[in-house]
Amino acid sequence: MKQIPIAIFACTAIAVAADDWKLPDENPAFKAAPGAELVQANCIMCHSHEYITTQPAFTRDQWKASVAKMQAKYGAPLPPEKVDALLNYLAQSYGKAAK
Ligand code: HEC
Repeated sequence: MKQIPIAIFACTAIAVAADDWKLPDENPAFKAAPGAELVQANCIMCHSHEYITTQPAFTRDQWKASVAKMQAKYGAPLPPEKVDALLNYLAQSYGKAAK
């Protein structure tokens, strides 16, 4: 019978510890904003999202050059009509405007 209080204590300790951590966000890769789905769909088939999220704050023109390089040099298959919205997202979420 002496073991019961110890068992209760152990269960409480586990329950308290469980409160200290939380599950990661559902979509941790990119900041939530209109256009995030475009980057998610078009920019992570060749490299991880960190290639994008760890860049210094680019201007929109710098993002434009970067995306153009992905297309021209590496053949990123990006629908032309999506480029503007994608650049808006990158500039706002990971650009100078983001600060
Ligand atoms: C077809 C493959 C491919 C796709 C799709 C792609 N990239 Fe890349 N990306 C690369 C390669 C290859 C590198 C260079 C990796 C290295 O140098 O280690 C790179 C590197 C980068 C870098 C690091 C800086 C640089 O210029 O090397 C950034 C930023 C980047 N990509 C952004 C993007 C964005 C934004 C998209 C979506 C529009 C995208 N990439 C889609 C292939 C791709």
